[in-house]
Amino acid sequence: MSSYPTIRPRRLRSSANLRRMVRETRLSADNLIAPLFIRHGQNISRPIVSMPGHAQLSVDTAVREAETIAEMGIPAVLLFGIPAHKDAMGSENYDPEGIIPQAIHAIKSAVPDLLVISDMCFCEYTDHGHCGVLNLPDHPGYSAQLGEGYLRNDETLELLGRASVVHAQAGADIIAPSGMMDGMVAAIRQALDTNGFANTIIMSYAAKYASGFYGPFRDAAESPPSFGDRSQYQMDPANAREALKEVALDVTEGADMLMVKPALAYLDIIQRVKERFELPLAAYQVSGEFSMIKAAAERDWIDERRVALETLYAIRRAGADMIITYFAKDVVKWLKA
Ligand code: PBG
Repeated sequence: MSSYPTIRPRRLRSSANLRRMVRETRLSADNLIAPLFIRHGQNISRPIVSMPGHAQLSVDTAVREAETIAEMGIPAVLLFGIPAHKDAMGSENYDPEGIIPQAIHAIKSAVPDLLVISDMCFCEYTDHGHCGVLNLPDHPGYSAQLGEGYLRNDETLELLGRASVVHAQAGADIIAPSGMMDGMVAAIRQALDTNGFANTIIMSYAAKYASGFYGPFRDAAESPPSFGDRSQYQMDPANAREALKEVALDVTEGADMLMVKPALAYLDIIQRVKERFELPLAAYQVSGEFSMIKAAAERDWIDERRVALETLYAIRRAGADMIITYFAKDVVKWLKA
């Protein structure tokens, strides 16, 4: 008997066609969701310095961008708003004339088939930059036990319900609550159902970590907290079992789709959620994950296309059905090339 191996995995790697044929994980436009940042004004495309290639867009330019995205075969956009006014309650988020309801309406009118997902959170809209209503001594219902500056969960739920209905009225297909409030999915489901939007989908940011990878986003959405951080409500990066608890709660509350965020540093969470739950699973490759690749590629330290695709395949391999990524348009071009 020969001492040479008879089983040779390398046989299946010997040509591009073979590798393509036996590839286990697929990446295509079908899996991608493209985020957009929208601000008031006209004909605006204001570059986001920390996210090369991305810009804050006015509603008219966002419609043109949405048309391009749809033509490329990407099924959905995720919208973030930069309001004209910020206040303690984040009231522009539930104003029917607010920036996001306007954008949803315009995009759905121009490109009806493109799915519009509305990120449902208050941090872009509040003057303090936190994701809901704060516990403050001069506000009614102040709780000494919670302490000054604590984010009031149940008051925030009411506003999330109200804003979700406004976004659904404007035409949003999917509401994506991202504030990590307890009970947010149930509150939004109830508000939607009682207002005639039983078919509006909820994609819950079910396991969202308090992450340093959101840095560039906070420039893009002008939403950094004015004091403290989000560790009271977003998850501790050290925890995994807690993510399964968060996800289980959102499933019971009626979430239609789940999300893990960020993606690359949380592949174990993606894998465990995918194994345990039957709902479609999204992963969010967040701003910092994008900008790190861009910055290193600008210095020629890494190959952008190669590294970006490698991370996206990793996220798919871990189990994500859908990926929200700032590389969405690039991926479609790269896969064609
Ligand atoms: C809103 C929200 C954030 C992101 C998505 N929705 C910011 C945050 O939680 O601070 C981050 C997305 C990214 O970094 O690309 N709560």
